[in-house]
Amino acid sequence: MLRVITISNEKGGVAKTTSTLSLGAALAELGHKVLVVDLDAQANLTLSLGFEPGESERTSSDIMLDNAPLLSACRKTDVENLDLIPSSSRIETSEQFLPVRTNYMTILQRAIANAPSMPYEYIILDCPPALGAITQNALAAADLLLIPTQAEYFSAYALRNMMTLIRRIREEHNPNLAYRILVTMLDKRNRTHRNIHDQLRATFGEGVFNTVIEIDTKLRESPIAGLPITRYKTGARGSTQYRVLAQELMEYAKETENRQPA
Ligand SMILES: Nc1ncnc2c1ncn2[C@@H]1O[C@H](COP(=O)(O)OP(=O)(O)OP(=O)(O)O)[C@@H](O)[C@H]1O
Ligand SMILES: [Mg+2]
Repeated sequence: MLRVITISNEKGGVAKTTSTLSLGAALAELGHKVLVVDLDAQANLTLSLGFEPGESERTSSDIMLDNAPLLSACRKTDVENLDLIPSSSRIETSEQFLPVRTNYMTILQRAIANAPSMPYEYIILDCPPALGAITQNALAAADLLLIPTQAEYFSAYALRNMMTLIRRIREEHNPNLAYRILVTMLDKRNRTHRNIHDQLRATFGEGVFNTVIEIDTKLRESPIAGLPITRYKTGARGSTQYRVLAQELMEYAKETENRQPA
């Protein structure tokens, strides 16, 4: 079953937040109930949906640090079928305070499992650009890790640390953790981009989504409007490509469900 999708890469600015919001909105548009969770102190996801960090009574910090129930921090957004758990700068203190607690790696996993009736078909977790306690919690909770990557040498290089972490999380907390790499901000005219994209596919095979996200300046503008791209410019290339990604993800979900024994 595919319910929890974690979006992570320790590299900054590779479109983690953009992908969380755009994919979440594309799934919501198809009628799925979607929750997006901001786990980053920068609160970019929160801001992109038109909320001020600090205006919400409950945020992801309350879940991570004070064991608040998951559903107590959910807020409706202006987008139908799309809810948000906002973030605040306090979440940063998790990196310092969590590792001294017992079972701290599975706080988020348990918060999701303990929700009494789960109203969401998809939960998408937007991680900070680091592989610390917050990201490790998000990996332990995930059915699928989506790794946005630019077709740049250093981005491809950063995948090594992620692969090491995936192995550790599988061994210790989440044996079924699957991953898929998503190539973002691709410039098809750029030869280096094309070469690195080809190399990623040669190295990771099925571990790379067929869908790629090309550069689209409309994706830079939509946070200013406080709307996902699919609502801000519904016909933009970015909207189309994130819709195709949503379809590919749903096919993947169907395949994995068929593989589970009845
Ligand atoms: N396909 C795209 N085309 C053009 N610009 C994009 C695209 N995707 C994302 N961007 C822009 O790139 C910048 C970084 O994106 P985003 O904030 O989603 O990355 P991030 O990985 O979440 O960053 P951080 O590591 O700081 O959390 C933003 O200004 C965003 O609008
Ligand atoms: Mg971000």
